[in-house]
Amino acid sequence: MKILVTGGAGFVGSHVAEYYTRRGDEVTVLDNLLRWEVFKGNLGNPQYNWNYLKKYQNVKLMKGDIRNPEDLKKAAKGSDAIIHTAAQVAVTTSMKDPKLDFEVNAFGTLNVLEAARLNDSAVVYCSTNKVYGENVNTIPVAEEEKRYRFADEKYKKGIPEDFSIDRAWHTPYGCSKLAGDLYVQDYAHGYGLKTGVFRMSCIYGERQFGVEDQGWIAWFTIATMLGKPITIYGDGKQVRDVLYIADLVEVFDAFLKSYLKQGVFNIGGGPDNTLSLLELLDLLERLCGKKPTISFADWRPADQKVYISDISRAGEKLGWKPKVSPEEGVRKLVNWISDNLNLFNSI
Ligand SMILES: NC(=O)c1ccc[n+]([C@@H]2O[C@H](COP(=O)([O-])OP(=O)(O)OC[C@H]3O[C@@H](n4cnc5c(N)ncnc54)[C@H](O)[C@@H]3O)[C@@H](O)[C@H]2O)c1
Repeated sequence: MKILVTGGAGFVGSHVAEYYTRRGDEVTVLDNLLRWEVFKGNLGNPQYNWNYLKKYQNVKLMKGDIRNPEDLKKAAKGSDAIIHTAAQVAVTTSMKDPKLDFEVNAFGTLNVLEAARLNDSAVVYCSTNKVYGENVNTIPVAEEEKRYRFADEKYKKGIPEDFSIDRAWHTPYGCSKLAGDLYVQDYAHGYGLKTGVFRMSCIYGERQFGVEDQGWIAWFTIATMLGKPITIYGDGKQVRDVLYIADLVEVFDAFLKSYLKQGVFNIGGGPDNTLSLLELLDLLERLCGKKPTISFADWRPADQKVYISDISRAGEKLGWKPKVSPEEGVRKLVNWISDNLNLFNSI
């Protein structure tokens, strides 16, 4: 197969690219290294994932921008599938620069779809749980010692795909990602493309250059190992379902292999794989043998107290379920950081 991975120098994209490259497919990666411009000074080596992929023969690396339709046309030529991971990824950046956020996430996704239309390529879109915005906070929660939990039995399996996306405070990031999400669905109906929308919760794993504003599991782990201070916005009892990267790549591939013409899936670890911030800090203390240095600050806008994906649709339609537990996955992340501490020395 011929596969284009947008955002292939990023965390999710580099794993997707590696997976298909190893399988022997012909992979093109398109990235403009925006992440390193946006978070400058806060990350290790900006070229790390890019250089990491260079060891494979059958991957072509293209520096280019999804905001430019010509770059996409060139990169997508002859592709059977486009896995679209490129994005402006931080809520905080979207509040500071909503225009950049819109251009990359909404207009960039439209360009991806147009390139897919030219080639009749299948599309996998990395959407986000943020499309449900603050509506999630209308579900009553109960407070426990180290975490919140949904108090309404109706959500014991988590948030389903038909949860309202309407009349919520999304933040610009939530809006631009939702615009992309809807366009991707629409191109399945309007133009007959095979499209999968994955509304992702927290994904984590090796080669994730987490920063305070995005990628909290990796950020907490890096900060703990380097002895850097961690600020907890809110009380730390926020809960997320967490998914190890290899499990995410598997569900993308299950969709591409499936007979489904289109689908929208909530994707994360589900109710069996959740962590609160405080629980992650405890786990890190155990795994790293170091106590994280923490302080508390006000809640961030539109933060969800509990978000857990109902992953049963992906189970039923794609025969998929997460395999890696949070403890096992975080241990892999700790091992990768400890083997690559030199990458983070400048932080
Ligand atoms: N990591 C998570 O927990 C998570 C959760 C929900 C949704 N998502 C979504 O998954 C996708 C991947 O996230 P990630 O964690 O790998 O982020 P990442 O920042 O590591 O990767 C995104 C990549 O896209 C590139 N990029 C940005 N703008 C671009 C442009 N205009 N043209 C070309 N490349 C561009 C960046 O340089 C970066 O390499 C994103 O769409 C994000 O919104 C991620």
